[in-house]
Amino acid sequence: MTRHIRFNAFDMNCVAHQSPGLWRHPADRSHRYTDLGYWTELARLLERGLFDGLFIADVLGTYDVYGGTDEAALRQGAQIPVADPLLLVSAMAAATEHLGFGITTGTGFEHPYPFARRLSTLDHLTRGRIGWNVVTGYLPSAARNFGEADQLDHDTRYDHADEYLEVLYKLWEGSWEDDAVVRDAERGIYIDPEKVHHIGHRGPHFTVPGIHLSEPSPQRSPVIYQAGASPRGVRFAAENAEAIFVGPPSKRVLRDTVARIRAALVDAGRDPYSARIYALATIVTDATDEAAAAKHEEYKRYASLEGALVFTSGWMGIDLSRYDLDEPIGNVESNAIRSAVAAFQEADDDGREWRVRDIAEWASIGGLGPRFVGSGESVATQLQEWVAETDVDGFNLAYAVTPGSFEDVITHVVPVLQERGAYPTTYTEGTLRHKLFGKGDRLPDEHRGARYRLGASLSTVTDRYRAYVG
Ligand SMILES: Cc1cc2nc3c(=O)[nH]c(=O)nc-3n(C[C@H](O)[C@H](O)[C@H](O)COP(=O)(O)O)c2cc1C
Repeated sequence: MTRHIRFNAFDMNCVAHQSPGLWRHPADRSHRYTDLGYWTELARLLERGLFDGLFIADVLGTYDVYGGTDEAALRQGAQIPVADPLLLVSAMAAATEHLGFGITTGTGFEHPYPFARRLSTLDHLTRGRIGWNVVTGYLPSAARNFGEADQLDHDTRYDHADEYLEVLYKLWEGSWEDDAVVRDAERGIYIDPEKVHHIGHRGPHFTVPGIHLSEPSPQRSPVIYQAGASPRGVRFAAENAEAIFVGPPSKRVLRDTVARIRAALVDAGRDPYSARIYALATIVTDATDEAAAAKHEEYKRYASLEGALVFTSGWMGIDLSRYDLDEPIGNVESNAIRSAVAAFQEADDDGREWRVRDIAEWASIGGLGPRFVGSGESVATQLQEWVAETDVDGFNLAYAVTPGSFEDVITHVVPVLQERGAYPTTYTEGTLRHKLFGKGDRLPDEHRGARYRLGASLSTVTDRYRAYVG
C-alpha cells in the first residue's frame, strides 16, 4: 500500500511568521491576525485540505540577538507583535469538526497547575482535538522579562521540563477517575469524592499537593508535540512526544534525524512509529512548473534578508549583524552555525563557499526547511521521494504568504497525492490522538504519562498524598 503523507500547517499569531518581508506581498493576509474571522477561515480551509492540524508556534520574547537590540525585529515585524496562541482555539474549533490544534507554550513561563486546567478546558471544548507543543524556550529576552538574568542552561531547561510534565501527567492522568462525576440528583451528589485523588507532588521545582481542577477530558493528556534536536532534546521527545517536528534542510540529514528519533523511541520503551514525525518545508506551487518558478521569484523579491538574519541570529544565538553580507561563513565564530551551514550547503550545493547572505536567503521564505517549487505533480513526486527515502511521516508546512500558500497546496498538490493513493481522502472520526494513530483517545500504556494513570497505580496516588502530608 502507498504510504499516506500527512500535512500540518505551521503558523503563529503574528505577521509573516517565518517569511520576513512577505507581509508586503499583495496576496498576504497575515496582517489580519488580530481578526477572529482570519483564523476561523484558515481553520476551515485546512480542514477542507484534510490537514492533520494547525500548529501554532510561540515565543515570549523578542529577537534581540541581532544587533543586540529589538530595533530590527520591530522594524521588520519579525514575530513581533505576537499574540497568545491558546485564545484562538475555541473559535476555530467551533468552525471545524476534525482539524487538530497544536499549540505551543513554554515550560519556563507558567506554573503547570493553571496550565493543566487551561489545556483540559480546550480538550473539552474541542472534543479532544488539542495538542501541546512543549518548548523549553531559546530566547534570552523571554527569560529576562520573567525577572531572570538569563535562561537556564540548555540541558537544565529539559530537566525542569521533565518535572513540569510529571506534574501535568499526574493531574491529567492520575487525579480523577473516569466515573468521578456522578451527577446524582436524587442523592444530591455531583462528584463522588472517593474518585478524585490528590496528586501529592513535591519536587525540586514544583509543589502540587492537590487535585486537578478539571474533570477528565476526551484525551486527558493532550497530544504531546515536541521539536528537540539536541541529544537531550531527542531523549525528551522520545519519552513524551507523539508528534515530533524536525527542520533539516536536506534529505540525508532528515533520514539520519528520523532514524535517530525512531531509535530513541525504542530506547524509551516505545514503538518506533508511536510518534508521527513531520519535517518543516515550504511549498511554492501553481498549475505548471514555470508558473510556480515565477511565483517563487516574485516571493523572493519581497523577502527581507535583514528579517531573515534577525531570525537566524535568534535561533542560533549569534549576532549576525557583526558580519558583512558577503563575509564567508568560515569567518563567523560559531561551531553551531558552521554545522548548520554544512547541512544547508549539502542541500543546495553548487560548489561555492557560503556567505552570510546565503544563510539569509535560505531562511527568508519559510525558515530553515527545504523549499519545494513546482507544479502539483512535481511537488507531489518530490514529497513522495522524501518520504520514501527518509521514513518521515509528513510535512509541517510553513507559508510564504497566507492563506495563499495553503490554498495552493490544497488546490495543486493534495489532489495529485490523493490520485496516487498517497494522501487521505477523508478524516478518521474521533479525537486527534485517534486520528493520528487509530488506537483510541488516551495515551498508550507504554507512554511515560500512563505511569501516572489511575487504576493499577491508584493506591500509589493516595500513598503519594499521604507521603506529602507526612
Ligand atoms: C518546526 C519547529 C518548530 C518550533 N517551534 C518552536 C516554537 O514555537 N517556540 C519555541 O520556543 N521553540 C520552537 N522550536 C524550537 C524547539 O523547541 C527546540 O528548542 C529546537 O528544535 C532546538 O532543540 P534542542 O534544544 O533540543 O537543540 C521549534 C523547532 C522546530 C524544528
